[in-house]
Amino acid sequence: MNRTPSAGLDPARFVDALIENPEGVLSSDLPAAPTDRALFVQRLGRHGPRLVDLFLTLYKDRADARKWLKRLFTIMAESWDRRTNDLRTLDRAREADPSWFQSEKMVGGVLYVDLFSDNLANLFEHIAYFKELELTYLHLMPIFSVPHGDSDGGYAVSSYRAVNADLGTMKELTQLARVLRGEGISLVLDFVLNHTSNEHEWARRARAGDPVYQGFYHTFADRALPDQYERHLREIFPTVRRGNFSWDAEMQRWVWTTFNSFQWDLNYANPAVFCAMAEEMLYLANAGVEVLRLDAVAFIWKEMGTTCENLVGAHDIIRAFNAVARIAAPSLLFKSEAIVHPDQVLSYVAPEECPLSYNPMLMALIWEAAATRETRLLEHAVKKRARLPEGCSWVNYLRCHDDIGWTFDDEDARQVGIDPAAHRRFLNAFYTGNHSGSFARGVPFQYNPDTGDLRVSGTLASLAGLEQALDADDPVLIQMAVRRIMMMRSIMLSIGGIPLIYIGDEWGMLNDYTYLSDPTKVSDSRWVHRSRKKWHLQRSYSDPAALEWRFFNGLKEMIGLRKNLPALRNGGMEHFWTGNPHLFAYLRQADGQQLLIVANFSEHGQVASRDRLSGFPKEAVFFDHIGKTYHPATGDLALDPYQYMWLEVKDPSPAAGR
Ligand code: GLC
Repeated sequence: MNRTPSAGLDPARFVDALIENPEGVLSSDLPAAPTDRALFVQRLGRHGPRLVDLFLTLYKDRADARKWLKRLFTIMAESWDRRTNDLRTLDRAREADPSWFQSEKMVGGVLYVDLFSDNLANLFEHIAYFKELELTYLHLMPIFSVPHGDSDGGYAVSSYRAVNADLGTMKELTQLARVLRGEGISLVLDFVLNHTSNEHEWARRARAGDPVYQGFYHTFADRALPDQYERHLREIFPTVRRGNFSWDAEMQRWVWTTFNSFQWDLNYANPAVFCAMAEEMLYLANAGVEVLRLDAVAFIWKEMGTTCENLVGAHDIIRAFNAVARIAAPSLLFKSEAIVHPDQVLSYVAPEECPLSYNPMLMALIWEAAATRETRLLEHAVKKRARLPEGCSWVNYLRCHDDIGWTFDDEDARQVGIDPAAHRRFLNAFYTGNHSGSFARGVPFQYNPDTGDLRVSGTLASLAGLEQALDADDPVLIQMAVRRIMMMRSIMLSIGGIPLIYIGDEWGMLNDYTYLSDPTKVSDSRWVHRSRKKWHLQRSYSDPAALEWRFFNGLKEMIGLRKNLPALRNGGMEHFWTGNPHLFAYLRQADGQQLLIVANFSEHGQVASRDRLSGFPKEAVFFDHIGKTYHPATGDLALDPYQYMWLEVKDPSPAAGR
């Protein structure tokens, strides 16, 4: 690599200076007219001090910390040198418009490549489908090489640089990223950073007895330490394996495995692991991945005597990775996948950590309100906890490839008169067919007999009542299920953040029970909502009598509306109290446009009374973009069962709009 700097700075000496005196570097004379190499140096100057500080804090007890830090700078410089021109152009564009993902134009989709199109090569043919749905963000579920048989849906990665041969090649992936980018669609992939599979090269070497690679994982000769750790740890997959450690017969050691026994937790207390994973991350960025979903972030840092979840070290690791990205692949964005207590979910969201985050609380509470037909917990929690720091955005979803866990705050529940434990039991019963009168068809996931914990699997349509209604062949129930689904979707698309469609839900995919006869899937009920795309149903998208038509076209219409309402851009969401416990309402505002969004969670008509609307100017009228009707702001607002309205507040008075 040519290390001669184009603007009179020697990067190697620069890095030494950076490590010795980060503050001094910030004030030093950085190149004014940047070439691409000098741009790198400039970004080093901007983000390097933060990186140095984080790295030396994380590894303060390691005598070799500086050696590894230098190695990290080499990795970044080499990776930058390999970055293609079109990605460098993208870097500059994103730096110039850092809030690009907050736009109302953003709409996401997520799919399994094998279930959707068999492989990457065929995926190219479906870009028109993504365009029809107006997606701007496409998340492909894990596509890298994995062990045969059970691989936790791809989350046991054997190489971050080799696409699973059944799905395609790295070349195809890189090409896909480029083609999608040309179509205005950002490629999103998982960065499974908490663990590798037990077949990853590093794990193989560890198993073969190499102490360097045993140091990449948490391995133990006996149960002494695992037993001590275990006292404070949760169990994530208790039905497949108890505890958090697995015995590896080949290595003759215990290894930390938070998830399945074949998923080995990486040891981030080792700076060699940080550097190795930074290299893998930049490799993915250079392949054209624009957003990395940081999988299972809560678990990446361990300390004896703690739950080993959400520790400061975990945040520091992500922040350090973020600084690495800002320097060597600036357009790369992180999305946090922390399915933990709502306060902890928020703790990962920051421009210098993860600017994007799943919104599991909103997801869970929409389902909670759908079951109870009441919105008090949803409203209370959203009011308290929806706000994100500047420059960040939620990713809102109704369903994804995982189960639903009831992640609300116990105190929030008590404050609105709900007993949290009893309520979780009710919700589990409601969604797994153990509550009379329930409309839902869900399947239990990971029942823990010691704690009583349970989560729920199932598709949007099956959980929202469609499967049961179709089985009963009852047109009224079918109608209710369809309306319920549309109403829930309307929240996902309007509340603020990137709406993420779990592909299959766009046409109302039902549960698929065939996983029960597959030995590699039968013990994981999440496969009930991971099924093959039924392309033959595409014909129904143009048949107005078909349910698929209603779902698909209803969604397309709502997406089209979203994209043309600047008030729906991220930010500016105020909860609005209608006084009716079955309604959920909020105000969205931007660019001089104001929208009042109202959703009815019950199968009965509901009214938002005029007194509650008295805050709007008397002359104002509401235009409902969904129903295309006008409503005076002075009257009661009546909503049909499961109706939702996107009301633009139009004030015809001459003072308005000044
Ligand atoms: C995340 C994934 C989940 C997987 C787990 C372990 O939570 O969403 O599917 O089982 O991480 O990688």
